[in-house]
Amino acid sequence: MADEIAAQKWVLMVTAQTPTNIAVIKYWGKRDETLILPINDSISVTLDPAHLCTTTTVSVSPSFEKDRMWLNGKEISLSGARYQTCLREIRSRATDVEDEKKGIKIGKKDWEKLHVHIASHNNFPTAAGLASSAAGFACLVFSLAKLMNVKEDQGKLSAIARQGSGSACRSLFGGFVKWKMGKEEDGSDSIAVQLADEKHWDELVIVIAVVSSRQKETSSTSGMLESVETSMLIKHRAKEVVPKRIIQMEEAIKDRDFPSFARLACADSNQFHAVCLDTCPPIFYMNDTSHRIISYVEKWNRSEGTPQVAYTFDAGPNAVLIARNRKVAAQLLQRLLFYFPPQSDCDFNSYLLGDRSILQDVG
Ligand code: ADP
Ligand code: DP6
Ligand code: CO
Repeated sequence: MADEIAAQKWVLMVTAQTPTNIAVIKYWGKRDETLILPINDSISVTLDPAHLCTTTTVSVSPSFEKDRMWLNGKEISLSGARYQTCLREIRSRATDVEDEKKGIKIGKKDWEKLHVHIASHNNFPTAAGLASSAAGFACLVFSLAKLMNVKEDQGKLSAIARQGSGSACRSLFGGFVKWKMGKEEDGSDSIAVQLADEKHWDELVIVIAVVSSRQKETSSTSGMLESVETSMLIKHRAKEVVPKRIIQMEEAIKDRDFPSFARLACADSNQFHAVCLDTCPPIFYMNDTSHRIISYVEKWNRSEGTPQVAYTFDAGPNAVLIARNRKVAAQLLQRLLFYFPPQSDCDFNSYLLGDRSILQDVG
């Protein structure tokens, strides 16, 4: 670092917010653990950043002695390979930064020596199956890229975020997003692309029922590794089932065809959890309340003759419910409150169901 910078006393800061995304065709299984390359394509919906999101502030100062990070107010170690990769990949693309008002001038080379402090906060449960790793790593990469004036496009940034957490690559885009598994060994074509923006299907309403905000016992990373090692079903899923579903799901999204969208999303969530059961030892992400919500939605859809609500569960017990329009969403919330009252013996915590169930537009 140039000597005159080392003696300076400024702090430069950037804050960014990134929403989480929920997969409707799930990613589960890697072909490369280090580069985080998946065994199948996946498709997700990015939520409204006003509701479920990560907020990250990254700062740089010549007075910082090492890279440090705080997650939800607690300092965490940055020594893990995923954090190191994201930092390295962004640093290597840093360009000159100038802030005339503050008299700051950082040259491209200075970034190699300057240290960053990162403070990140999730406004929803962390590691509970609501894709905190997705919002978290997308936000980390996006805010660092902004701070260091990285000039790569969103696709390239998605490939960097992917190396923090696979699902994170999809959170760099709004609306409906596809993560292409890619073919290249170096992962350069394993990137996210936007299928449709947030305005494309703005009738949809997402309701998230927080069944439990406890941290899950098996992280997504170790769960999918165990599935790849022990499940026969996962092979069939990745080769035979998902490729067809991806085509059908893209079509359903393009045509705003809710019945097809709902059937595919529910079937894919159920198959993902079947893979978890087919893993040795089996992984149970859903609980009794999750199962009761599935039965309830299935009955409702059957009684209407056509799907009104789609459900999908990530690696956790929390339900992501997608209503076909606002009217159905209002009914859904009413019925959830009636059948799954906050103070019942189920896992719902009154505070979470009362205040944290989230009613929001996809856009
Ligand atoms: P989830 O279902 O919430 O995505 P995962 O098991 O996939 O759960 O990932 C949880 C991990 O993601 C956390 O233990 C932490 O390492 C990382 N993570 C969560 N939030 C953030 C964040 N805001 N910034 C950086 N990393 C995060
Ligand atoms: C069930 O992206 O959290 O949410 O790549 O190991 O960090 P790592 O796993 P992660 O897995 C997400 C799995 C899922 C499905 C999905 O988001 O597609
Ligand atoms: Co995750």
